[in-house]
Amino acid sequence: MTLAQRPRRNRQSAGMRRMVRETSLSAANLVLPLFVQEGTAQRSPIGSMPGQARLSIDLLVETASQAFGLGVPAVALFPALSDSLKDPRGSESLNASGLLQRSVRALKQALPELVVITDVALDPYSSDGHDGVVVDGIIDNDQTLPLLAQMAVAQADAGADVVAPSDMMDGRVGAIRRALDAAGHSRVAICSYAVKYASAFYGPFREALDSTPRSGDKKTYQMDPANHRECLREIELDVAEGADWLLVKPGLPYADIIRLVRDRTALPVAAYHVSGEYAMLHAAAERGFIDYDACLLETLTCFRRAGADIIFTYAAIDAARLLRRGT
Ligand code: PBG
Repeated sequence: MTLAQRPRRNRQSAGMRRMVRETSLSAANLVLPLFVQEGTAQRSPIGSMPGQARLSIDLLVETASQAFGLGVPAVALFPALSDSLKDPRGSESLNASGLLQRSVRALKQALPELVVITDVALDPYSSDGHDGVVVDGIIDNDQTLPLLAQMAVAQADAGADVVAPSDMMDGRVGAIRRALDAAGHSRVAICSYAVKYASAFYGPFREALDSTPRSGDKKTYQMDPANHRECLREIELDVAEGADWLLVKPGLPYADIIRLVRDRTALPVAAYHVSGEYAMLHAAAERGFIDYDACLLETLTCFRRAGADIIFTYAAIDAARLLRRGT
């Protein structure tokens, strides 16, 4: 039979498929988020995130060097603090010898080339579990901004290469940029969680940090999952305020948003394969419903196809191993 076009011709062998592949995935695209806690040789598994744990600084350094050795260039840090250190203004975030700041120093000392990304938001430090200061039941935008700016400076002082505001307050990228520059940190980059939705997929993360809001939800600052155009406003503002990377979060269910951001900016676009997405892959694989390795690499490739340059994923070490093996 004569068919002018037979798309299958380009798929007939591994060599042909490799030649026409449009998207590549490499360990260099990945960022490994890590949870840190106090102590030595402490590893506290996170029930809803199989394979992930809160690590004391010594084990954090060990895990980061494992990732770095597999070609993963960066880690993103989240501190798990005891309740006694939490207060309404998240004051512990500014402590130069606090857990997060000590973690950054330890990582940069052991692995100077590792890119260390720190999260800027009040929630791990806040007794209210919100990303901003709660005043009379309202998350107060303008009282939060100076705290975020000081937090970013404290992280940069400790040696962070990239600060990543994940709080969704208005004007925070500009406030952070000005504070960093004034403190002599003009080389520290800002990865803005520019487009962050009020998502139910963050559940396991909040279990890891015990950071579920004590009252209310995050819908007055994080975006409505039903919205698409609104993200254009958010990215325009963050670009004008000085963002170096734009991040979309959650990940795969928001692939259309990743594509929209990719098409609208020349900045690098990051996407976050969040805790709930990671948990779903594991839960289905544990029950034998899907193949974890294959679905993981497919998922990460889809992030790249959607337009993400950088992917934050708890599965970075698994993926880097699979990529090294050439699976
Ligand atoms: C909070 C923050 C959250 C995540 C990263 N930073 C949770 C939230 O907004 O409640 C979620 C990450 C994940 O689910 O993997 N500033």
